[in-house]
Amino acid sequence: MNIISGFSKLTKLEKINYLVENFLEGSRFSKEKIKSFWHDNALEQKVFDDFSENTITNFYAPYGVVPNFLLNGKIHCIPMVIEESSVVAASAKAAKFWLDRGGFKASVVSTIKVGQVHFIWKGESAQLYSFFNEVKSELIESVSPLVQNMKKRGGGLLSLELKDCTDLEEGYYQFHGEFETCDAMGANFINSVLEAIGKKWQELISLNTSFEQEQRDVQIVMCILSNYTPKCLVKAWVECDINELNDSGLGMEPSEFANKFARAVRIAQKDVGRAVTHNKGIFNGIDAVVLATGNDFRAIEACGHAYAARDGQYRSLSNCSIENGKFKFEIEIPLALGTVGGLTSLHPMSKISLDMLGNPNARELMMITAALGLAQNFGAVRSLVTTGIQKGHMKMHLMNILNHLEANDQERELARKEFETQVISFNSVRDFIAGLRNYQ
Ligand code: MEV
Repeated sequence: MNIISGFSKLTKLEKINYLVENFLEGSRFSKEKIKSFWHDNALEQKVFDDFSENTITNFYAPYGVVPNFLLNGKIHCIPMVIEESSVVAASAKAAKFWLDRGGFKASVVSTIKVGQVHFIWKGESAQLYSFFNEVKSELIESVSPLVQNMKKRGGGLLSLELKDCTDLEEGYYQFHGEFETCDAMGANFINSVLEAIGKKWQELISLNTSFEQEQRDVQIVMCILSNYTPKCLVKAWVECDINELNDSGLGMEPSEFANKFARAVRIAQKDVGRAVTHNKGIFNGIDAVVLATGNDFRAIEACGHAYAARDGQYRSLSNCSIENGKFKFEIEIPLALGTVGGLTSLHPMSKISLDMLGNPNARELMMITAALGLAQNFGAVRSLVTTGIQKGHMKMHLMNILNHLEANDQERELARKEFETQVISFNSVRDFIAGLRNYQ
């Protein structure tokens, strides 16, 4: 057993040594290989090291851009961090397609964030409601020092409601707080306010002499923001006359394409098996922008999937309609994003991303991200209902296989030609390259 105590206290090099000696002995990966991914500049590296704990090196991911992205009349170059082949290419192709057809449009529906204090109190629910109403303003006033800066920026705690959840768990109640956090994602702000509310609530209840002794005890189970933010919502869409969908790359008439595309989206609205894959395609785009701008992609995904299932069935996040000769493809998605605070202002690459996007505020970033998600979805579904997904995907994947096989320039060129017509698989490319090498 390779149990170690005090691992976190070791220096980075000591950690690597421990790892190599205990877990990578005999592996083809050496200490030098791990270190080779350190940043050349020690100060820059320190920034990455300090983001997390027990950091030993960096894990690179490709940073690509989608140019010519017309959104609300303005051209953007959108950064994406994603390792999967074809994703950036699909977004870029969709951006180009819609560039000549009016581009993408987006609007923010609302920007409300949510936080909850979960607590247990044993007694008559009506009594608790009446006490809450009595002390509600005192409770809210007690957090004013924490809220004042956010208030100056136009945000703060918008509302605080008591919810009876005793049908879920004996004695279980919740405070449901709604917040406006302006350009910050707001997790720290919301959590601090909630914890202060939890403490004050405990204090007020303990001092309330109109309650029986045992009712003066409240158990604060936890105080935490909710990543389910269905009121932090943005819409994005593209639309054009059906006859504008003429494009030789589609290989079919505009109306046939429009109907097939709309049917594919309808299937994703109704069939959960398809809906998950369809939405995964949307998040290929969304996560990539979220990562590039230093936002929390886990929060965005968790919320998006819950929203996709808001009526009890998991459905597509996008919709397609064909009415009066018009094709419209749209998405409605909650995106609690920030452009200040957290990693957005710390990660050197997210600072570059935000500069590239013209330093958007949170609302603008919500629109850009939703539109890119829609573009990605358009690209994927377009391929699925026309050429099939593998054609483009495997072309890009060929590059990964060639890298893996450490193919030289000449081998790459010959492989590219060969696999224009042949089916690409790891084995077929490996055999082809082996054939070339044997022949030489
Ligand atoms: C692959 O990463 C994403 C797709 O499967 C999305 C879809 O099927 O819509 C192509």
